[in-house]
Amino acid sequence: MKIFLDSSKLEEVNKWLPVIDGVTTNPTILLKEGGDVYTLAHLLNPKPISIEVCGDFETDARKYAGEVPNAVIKIPLLKPNGGNNLELIKRLSKEGIPINCTALMSLSQVILATKCGARYVSLFAGRVDDEGGDYCKMIKDCIDFLDEELCIEKGEGTEFYTDIELIVGSIRTVGNVLDAVRAGAHIVTIPPTVLEKMLVHRFSLDTVRQFESDNEKSKSAVSGNLPHTLG
Ligand code: E4P
Repeated sequence: MKIFLDSSKLEEVNKWLPVIDGVTTNPTILLKEGGDVYTLAHLLNPKPISIEVCGDFETDARKYAGEVPNAVIKIPLLKPNGGNNLELIKRLSKEGIPINCTALMSLSQVILATKCGARYVSLFAGRVDDEGGDYCKMIKDCIDFLDEELCIEKGEGTEFYTDIELIVGSIRTVGNVLDAVRAGAHIVTIPPTVLEKMLVHRFSLDTVRQFESDNEKSKSAVSGNLPHTLG
């Protein structure tokens, strides 16, 4: 399973670089955290960075795809006016522009995004959970569908991507991450606050502090004994 960082903060990308396989951003994250996608992309290259497009989806998609070699263009399946981006995703994917089809909340949406040739499909598990939906079952169902689908697509020699990956996003807790791993998610995109909780355990801290302190004590004991030992 791969880990993406769901953040646009340069310090956080730098901090988690050894364990992450990519980064996802969106307009809300950029508004809250600041950061510049070009700088982040440069730091991450060749790992992928998902950059979300809004408004004039196609113009922005072509701009980022042309300017950022490791950009994955994040396009929502639905438009704010109730329309959809199915045709655009299919056309850009066919041209070889990697698309992360985003803001998906159901297996049925994942199926449609896959059929358009998206390289990544982003299931917002936390938002499904917020509404009482069974996000673990939904992840499992999506993975089963993709496994089945990719076999068929490979057999037919499709011109589209055959390595579609499910990104589980909208992660709120370490429990969400572990659920996604158990359900077989290909990728989980995790906010820095949750990654920090995955890393730090107070008993681990107590343990390394004890080792450090005992090591210091041993050193002073040895240096204290040195003249005596050496006779
Ligand atoms: C994923 O790609 C999104 O950036 C993100 O996980 C959305 O999370 P939210 O539901 O907390 O906005």
